[in-house]
Amino acid sequence: MKTSEVIEIFEPNKEEKLFRLLKSFGIKANSVKLNKKRFFDIYDVKLANGVRSSRLDRVLVDIGMAMSSYSHPNGHPIMKDGIYRIEIQREEIEPPLFGQVYNSFAKNHYAPIALGIDSLGELLSIDLNDLPNLLVGGTTGSGKSVLLHSFVLSLIGSDALLYLIDPKMVEFGVYSDFSSVKSIVNSAEDAGLVIEEVRLIMESRFSILHKAGCRSVIEYNKRISSRSRMQPIVIIVDEWADIVLQDKDVQKTLCLVAQKGRAAGVSIILATQRPSCRVISGLIKSNFSGRIALKVASAVDSRVILDRGGAEKITDVGTGLYLDGTLSKPKLFRAPFAKDVQRELSQIKPAVKKKSFWDRLLS
Ligand SMILES: Nc1ncnc2c1ncn2[C@@H]1O[C@H](COP(=O)(O)OP(=O)(O)OP(=O)(O)O)[C@@H](O)[C@H]1O
Ligand SMILES: [Mg+2]
Repeated sequence: MKTSEVIEIFEPNKEEKLFRLLKSFGIKANSVKLNKKRFFDIYDVKLANGVRSSRLDRVLVDIGMAMSSYSHPNGHPIMKDGIYRIEIQREEIEPPLFGQVYNSFAKNHYAPIALGIDSLGELLSIDLNDLPNLLVGGTTGSGKSVLLHSFVLSLIGSDALLYLIDPKMVEFGVYSDFSSVKSIVNSAEDAGLVIEEVRLIMESRFSILHKAGCRSVIEYNKRISSRSRMQPIVIIVDEWADIVLQDKDVQKTLCLVAQKGRAAGVSIILATQRPSCRVISGLIKSNFSGRIALKVASAVDSRVILDRGGAEKITDVGTGLYLDGTLSKPKLFRAPFAKDVQRELSQIKPAVKKKSFWDRLLS
């Protein structure tokens, strides 16, 4: 062969590549359409008559390998359009800056929290009051505490009153100086007392709402002056297993608050490393409509949190699947990575009030 000779290798475009690949698996398609998104290639496959979509389910891993997918590809039929959609991740979803997500909060949200960025590159936040309770599960090092920091920062910024329960004693100390942080406790006993305190506040809010003829804090806050508005109240627990396995009774009070909290502006966020049925009981699950699964060890763990598998296939830390009552399937997202909590706090300054000398003395 002469050195000047060029060997031309025909590199088909991606649609054609998938079309041929399916053919090599004996799966006949009529068309393959590619829609390129920020982190994902989305392929819509129209199968030929008589080809079952379940055949595609079985070859997803092989497709991922042949198409150099960054993570396990997702595939599902979209019946109304008569297509099978395959989502192939091209690259890592970069974690957004906390400030980017914080600045995108809708103004009319009561208790917004920053979730991160979704697979299409859209910034994601949720209003806790819509849920109102959120369960977060993930194996050790999956990014639970970092995600909780982003929630705490969001809530400090929106003037919520926070009750932080931190059995590991290492995460929330940095917030002790803020006047909106009402308590930071570490033991199961203190957690029980804090939850009971919130329950009493919730009951007293109900009687104020009743007297004012309002059905919720949102309605009440619209009617009264901003000085006497009812701020969101949020209980955040970093390791729920450490609390509930020590004191089962805490769960009863917690569920009482979870059941009725929404109208009174009270929400609960529970995180756990151990998503087992002993830790996340049926009662908890029925009261926590918001679910987040970060990377978990097995499909069984994923099912405890999301009622379906999927989170065991997550590749990167801080990446998770989010589900609530309005979504038919979990949404993939990457959480912000607020490396320097103090710096983030200084940037959301206007809403943040530090405790006075007297507050600190009394707390
Ligand atoms: N969104 C993110 N983007 C990039 N890196 C992240 C993200 N979240 C977490 N990390 C990395 O993962 C490490 C572990 O995160 P984190 O402490 O939140 O895990 P965890 O789930 O709370 O673990 P444990 O259960 O042991 O407490 C962090 O120190 C950080 O380096
Ligand atoms: Mg942690």
